[in-house]
Amino acid sequence: MTTLLLGGAGRTGARINDRLTALGEPTRLASRHTGFDWDRPDTWPQALSGATSAYVCFAPDLAFPGVPEKMAALGRLAAAEGLERLVLLSGRGEEGARASETALRGAGVPTTVLRCSWFQQNFSENFLSGPVRRGRLRLPAPDVPEAFVDLDDVADAAVQVLTRAVPDDATYELSGPELLTFAQVAQVLADASGRSVTFEAVDVASFVTDLADDGIPAEEAEFLAHLFTDILDGRNASLGAGVEQILGRPAASFGSYAAATAASGAWS
Ligand SMILES: NC(=O)c1ccc[n+]([C@@H]2O[C@H](COP(=O)([O-])OP(=O)(O)OC[C@H]3O[C@@H](n4cnc5c(N)ncnc54)[C@H](OP(=O)(O)O)[C@@H]3O)[C@@H](O)[C@H]2O)c1
Repeated sequence: MTTLLLGGAGRTGARINDRLTALGEPTRLASRHTGFDWDRPDTWPQALSGATSAYVCFAPDLAFPGVPEKMAALGRLAAAEGLERLVLLSGRGEEGARASETALRGAGVPTTVLRCSWFQQNFSENFLSGPVRRGRLRLPAPDVPEAFVDLDDVADAAVQVLTRAVPDDATYELSGPELLTFAQVAQVLADASGRSVTFEAVDVASFVTDLADDGIPAEEAEFLAHLFTDILDGRNASLGAGVEQILGRPAASFGSYAAATAASGAWS
């Protein structure tokens, strides 16, 4: 009963691996470090062989061009290898990701889709950690709220659907318990860290330049700018019930994430 974790060393994958290992569930991590490459389908069979289920975390993003074709091929291979369930990490409101979800389901392996809001940990483990440390969030963000979700909730939910007795084909919308604009996020981060954190709305070009200074590759920077300008148009300005539906408890707030992260010294 081996669970394959595609993207297993990443932010969600590592959390899921820790939880499954603590439960005594055998796991297999796959990414380029182990010889599995999304760009080389010839490396996929070795990763899937003998697995009973898989967590699918595509990098950099499910909405990228050409990903639905990869998801269709992965679904076919999973069916041929006898996998009994798939759990796909997806994004809320990303039209491009919908085609990838449908494609993965195409070969008929039961597939649970976890459509997530923006991760709270983007501010400490990803592209927004540098700006928080510098105390200046300079983003092309409109005055539109987002329902940031805690990665520990995402990992708890993924483990629940990977280990429940019967797999399902459901799609869940996972978010945090409140809607916050980026200006409000800056205030929460300042309160939690005891340091000044300001928000300034900037144009896309300034944002991309800032990301390049932080070492973010241009393709990823352009995509992130697209997320700010396209996805933050109000379509995700609502709460998702997925955490409560899967875990039977409320989602963790941005304030509790910020307090715990500040206490860990991550922004010092
Ligand atoms: N950030 C957000 O707010 C947000 C919100 C909703 C959904 N999402 C989705 O979350 C996913 C990212 O999840 P995450 O943050 O857990 O990932 P992550 O931390 O970025 O980890 C990605 C993993 O994928 C592996 N990887 C990268 N390129 C690869 C390739 N070409 N072939 C095989 N493996 C590769 C990396 O390991 P190696 O270097 O060893 O290959 C890494 O372990 C994306 O699909 C994104 O759309 C993100």
